[in-house]
Amino acid sequence: MEKMDILLLGSGGRESALAWKMSQSPLLGKLYIAPGNGGTSQYGTNVALSPLDFDAIKEWVKANDIKMIVVGNEDPLVKGIYDYFEQEDILVVGPSKAGAALEGSKDFAKQFMVKNNIPTARYRSFTAETIEDGFRFLEELKAPYVLKADGLAAGKGVLILPTIEEARESLREMLSGMFGASSATVVIEEFLSGIECSVFVLTDDNGGYRVLPVAKDYKRIGEGDTGLNTGGMGAVSPVQFADEVFMAKVRERIIEPTIKGLLAENITYRGFIFLGLINVEGEPMVIEYNVRMGDPETEAVMLRIDSDLVALMKAAAEGNLGSLELKEDPRTAVTVMMVSGGYPGDYEKGKKITGLGNVTDSILFHAGTKAVEDGVVTSGGRVIAASSYGKDMEEALAKSYASIALVEFEGKYFRRDIGNDLR
Ligand code: AMP
Ligand code: GLY
Repeated sequence: MEKMDILLLGSGGRESALAWKMSQSPLLGKLYIAPGNGGTSQYGTNVALSPLDFDAIKEWVKANDIKMIVVGNEDPLVKGIYDYFEQEDILVVGPSKAGAALEGSKDFAKQFMVKNNIPTARYRSFTAETIEDGFRFLEELKAPYVLKADGLAAGKGVLILPTIEEARESLREMLSGMFGASSATVVIEEFLSGIECSVFVLTDDNGGYRVLPVAKDYKRIGEGDTGLNTGGMGAVSPVQFADEVFMAKVRERIIEPTIKGLLAENITYRGFIFLGLINVEGEPMVIEYNVRMGDPETEAVMLRIDSDLVALMKAAAEGNLGSLELKEDPRTAVTVMMVSGGYPGDYEKGKKITGLGNVTDSILFHAGTKAVEDGVVTSGGRVIAASSYGKDMEEALAKSYASIALVEFEGKYFRRDIGNDLR
């Protein structure tokens, strides 16, 4: 097959891991990453383009003979990048704007699940006009109370409140603009209790799909899953409880109805579907859909794909996965994120990172880093993910922690308990 030049949009650890995996493909010509970070230049060329500036991207991809655009984060998808390029001779890996609403609108996602009989928490949606109904609905539920801003809120739009008084107060605040227009509609849903996992599916809009290795992420800043939510502090793959029996339920009750539902509504979807699942006493239920790969799950999942990712993404974007295989590497992969001191609150940037060259047992996926004249400095909250293989989780974690010990920057913090709840 002919080699193709590809543009990858994004700048996080997820995009570093995608770039690492893509760069192993014999199908890849040149790889460009926009805007990329201080580490992505190991796999391709960084380009100073904003993933949201579609006109500038179009001009640039035409001038550079790009054949495929891979979209790392949700914002360009929700804004309609797939639709924007549909008339051009350029493949886009991702859903159409209508499909991206599965992440862009929680109310839409819940309606979609109910319509397609997909197991999820009982819910209702409210606006400022129906706030009194919202208060009444809260009375029907038990504590804790789950309130979700309908629109994108940079991962901060879900509040879990221990008492009904706090839930009422938060509902009022959300509906009066706590998350701007994103919380003009609020979904209130039943609290589900269980352990979560992330399932990723690559779909071709023709009924074809492949399930990627399952992962579990660690979202809170503190050990023992305490403190504020972050963009993700680590991940593990595989996940023991997502065994054959559980995954058969996931396919039958969730993945297939999702794909059939999209087809039935003529919603074009040629990309990754991220199912945020919760295992409620052995029964999988959907907490949320995302329309892209997870971060930091991707920094573990990519290590476990033993097939050509470019071939798979191209086939999905062309609408025909055909008989292409997605083989799983049997080893365990983990990732542990090093973050800036203070994150997810205020933190300083521009700290010099040393020791990167000493790491041999892990793959370092840069997230919030920036190249400077004499090296690399921190430029974000989540700085670098240390991903490792192992025959089991313990071996893989030992490697990541040993690698982290070799990397230094002022204020470095990481969680030492990744994987603890799976032991
Ligand atoms: P999200 O922003 O949708 O990923 O939600 C953030 C987190 O809130 C999820 O990962 C869950 O841990 C939690 N969460 C969301 N919905 C529920 C629910 N219905 N029951 C229990 N926990 C939930
Ligand atoms: N790790 C969760 C997410 O990417 O949304």
